[in-house]
Amino acid sequence: AAPTRYEAEAAPATCSGTIDSNHPGFSGTGFCNGTNAIGAAAQFTVSASAAGTATLGVRFANGTTTARPVDVTVNGSRVTTTSFEGTGAWSTWATKTVSVSVASGSSTIRFSPTTANGLPNIDYLNF
Ligand code: GCU
Repeated sequence: AAPTRYEAEAAPATCSGTIDSNHPGFSGTGFCNGTNAIGAAAQFTVSASAAGTATLGVRFANGTTTARPVDVTVNGSRVTTTSFEGTGAWSTWATKTVSVSVASGSSTIRFSPTTANGLPNIDYLNF
C-alpha cells in the first residue's frame, strides 16, 4: 500500500524546537526545526495495520556539510541510529529510509540527535 504521510508540524506529531516555514519546498504548512542539542526530538505517532517490518521515509533538509546522526526510537526503545547527510541547502529536501519492526496498531517513532548539531529540518514521515 502507499505510505501514509505524517507531517512533522501537525498533531499528534511533536517537535522540540520550532515549526518553521522559511525554507521553501516543504510539504504542508511547515517543518520541524529541532533545537540544536542532544535530546531534542521530532516524534510521530503512526498506525500499522499489521505487525512487521516497516519502512520509514523521513523527508529532511540539512544545509550544512556535516551529517547529523540521529537515534531512532520505537515506543521508547532505541532501535537504530541513522545519519542525515548534507543536502546542499536548507531548501533542498531529500528522503532517508530506515527499516524498523513495529507491532500492529499505534506506535511512537522518535528521532533524537546524538550530537549538539541537532536534527536536520524534518518535513514529514512516510510510514
Ligand atoms: C539554520 C537554518 C535552520 C536550521 C539550522 C540548523 O539556522 O536556517 O532552518 O534548522 O540552521 O543548523 O539546524
